Amino acid sequence: MTFFRSLRSHALHSLCFLIFFPGLLLIVDLGSVPALAQSESGANRPASRPWMNPSLTADERAALVVKEMTIDEKISLLHGTGMKGLSPMSPLAVRSNGGAGYVVGVPRLGIPDINMADSAYGVRSSGENGKYSTALPSNVGAAASWDVNAAFEYGALIGREVKAQGYNMSIGGGVDLAREPRNGRTFEYMGEDPVLAGNMIAGLIRGVQAQHVMGDIKHYAMNDQESGRNAVNVHIDERSMRESDLLAFEIGVRDGNPSGVMCSYNRVNGDYACENKYLLTDVLKKDWKFKGFVLSDWQGTHSTAKASAAGLDHEEPGEIFYGAALKEAVKSGRVPMAEVDDHVRRIVRSLFANGVIDDPPEKSVVDVQGGFDVSRTIEEHSIVLLKNQSGQLPLDAASVHSIAVIGPHADVGMISGGGSAQVDPPGGNAIMPPGKGQSIWNTEIWFPTSPLKTIRAKAAGAKVQFNSGGDAASAAALAKASDVAIVYAYQWESEGMDLDSLSLPLHQDELIAAVAAANPHTIVVLETGGPVTMPWANQVSGILEAWYGGSQGAEAVANVLFGEVNPSGKLPLTFPISDADLPHREIVKPPDASTTHDEPDAWKKIAAGLPAFQTTYDEGVKVGYKWYDAEKKAVLFPFGYGLSYTSYRYSGLTVTPAAAGAKTQLHFTVTNTGSRAGIETAEVYAALPAVAAEPPKRLVGFSRVSLNPGESKDVTVEVDPVYLSIFNVKQDGWQLLPGDYAFMVGGSSQSLPLTQTVSLK
Ligand code: BGC
Repeated sequence: MTFFRSLRSHALHSLCFLIFFPGLLLIVDLGSVPALAQSESGANRPASRPWMNPSLTADERAALVVKEMTIDEKISLLHGTGMKGLSPMSPLAVRSNGGAGYVVGVPRLGIPDINMADSAYGVRSSGENGKYSTALPSNVGAAASWDVNAAFEYGALIGREVKAQGYNMSIGGGVDLAREPRNGRTFEYMGEDPVLAGNMIAGLIRGVQAQHVMGDIKHYAMNDQESGRNAVNVHIDERSMRESDLLAFEIGVRDGNPSGVMCSYNRVNGDYACENKYLLTDVLKKDWKFKGFVLSDWQGTHSTAKASAAGLDHEEPGEIFYGAALKEAVKSGRVPMAEVDDHVRRIVRSLFANGVIDDPPEKSVVDVQGGFDVSRTIEEHSIVLLKNQSGQLPLDAASVHSIAVIGPHADVGMISGGGSAQVDPPGGNAIMPPGKGQSIWNTEIWFPTSPLKTIRAKAAGAKVQFNSGGDAASAAALAKASDVAIVYAYQWESEGMDLDSLSLPLHQDELIAAVAAANPHTIVVLETGGPVTMPWANQVSGILEAWYGGSQGAEAVANVLFGEVNPSGKLPLTFPISDADLPHREIVKPPDASTTHDEPDAWKKIAAGLPAFQTTYDEGVKVGYKWYDAEKKAVLFPFGYGLSYTSYRYSGLTVTPAAAGAKTQLHFTVTNTGSRAGIETAEVYAALPAVAAEPPKRLVGFSRVSLNPGESKDVTVEVDPVYLSIFNVKQDGWQLLPGDYAFMVGGSSQSLPLTQTVSLK
């Protein structure tokens, strides 16, 4: 396990920093305390602050203020001043809001401190800080809604709560592709496809930043496994990287305009991501014209001059390389002042551009009920109905007499994703004795959204009984004696670990098989971070993928089970039949313990650079369905798949090829052929000309259509030319190859009834 596991174990937290930042007090005293002492009315306050004029552009305002800064003021903006555990050590940390990152501002010039909150699916550390935050469904769950507006609402809720808690930067925004679905952070990302993931993350970031807090996208890049993340060297060819993981980031940066890009822990083709000139400068800043700042993942830094030249703007959480060492490097000429100015300008510009300076956070009470509504609605649109044999669902509350609710902790709560994404549940972990309000690193945290209670509330006239499933035989006996059995099965994920396999843990496969053998009306509700294998899939009558459902998970699931909500989610990643079908049999792990040690001074070795071990992502661009398509492997449930309580028909496709550089347009009709209102996500894929040598198809667009029974709607999807292009390494750019493009439209990557081939030039 990594350094950060030990860092976050509360007992070691302060100790680590004590050793971690031996010179911190000294540095702080010399650099930043005098700046703090300069009050707004102090002698150093400039006569006027023209950069405070909101009618100037963010760039103009940043240029004006950076000119006024001393070197110490600049450097104070280029590194963090620790996490909460550091508080007793630093006179400045008392001003920290208790989040993962705290940066001392320049009050003399009106530049505020930056308080960063981890906030992947809600604001972290609420328990520890005596606050409250909503848990949204896991990020991959939200991606299953295929709803960019929902992603915006997701981000907006995070932005509001971050701000209400007194932070001005959200550091969520994970978008590494599920290239390796056993990655322990799959729940924190947006699935396996760059077009879906990129569009969803862009929506989320726009939502965050619309609240006048800075947003972030992470972990840039190729942080597709947690095992040995501080040491691993990922090998991948440039074209594949640009067309897969980097395309998700490209769309996120282009359309989301985040303030921050968090570089990742791992190495990419030799260099650590946080000192990787190719990633940070050539691609991000030059090609994508990223205007914000690059911040390191927490202790993802390994150098001063090299990182600065490569494009790292800001070090977190301390100042190993970007404090006194950076000042010294500037003095000795190893780092040009212009480079430092650029780092600072990017940070200050982001503060202006997102309204953080003009509309600073004011602490307030989070809207708990409003958060519930947003969280539940998004979850309702994210749940994927995977199987519904003989119309088993929705359940009819009036006619069902007895229901068995089975599964670990299904009486009290639903599981949530761990690590730095963890949101603290109100009242503490639902499975712990009362009083345990704070989440414990690397411990399963269950939210008090009770499946049993919600089922009882829905089916008030039925006998609803619970069995934990610890003993499969007694669970099966209860199932046999009930009209319907609902098994809530789970698989927990967290940062800092990967899954050994996609199998459900704790003998849940055996449990489900036993229950299904006892009752033909068995429905499985999956609370998982990503795909799981389902050896029992043919034996059960219904399967719902609920992801990690958030604060209102059980309510949302019950609304789908009983038909108040017609499911509309579609899988944002493939569910393979077995682990053996994945591109890699196993995740390559570090060869020895020295790369993942827990000893207190591990930070020194990490900072110096751990010995690299190699992993080669030789599946390249063939991530997820592109792999199964290319390898002609059958899957359990394909990418883009999801059932509804109604049915849809697709008809009348016309494709209008666009002139070079413009968007190709598709028109088609979707009809609701069933008897319930529903929402269908129409998916558009393209097969490139053979000369492109690409996998058989790729997602190039999608559109959600809301339809009453019998209703038809004409749908238009415009396809971005980049989504149809290949990345030409020699020309260092996207290239649309002339030739025949087959466009395919339908309701899943494996159900595409409409096809038309057009020639594009
Ligand atoms: C994680 C980041 C997180 C940071 C601060 C790191 O371990 O990888 O995602 O933002 O810690 O908590």
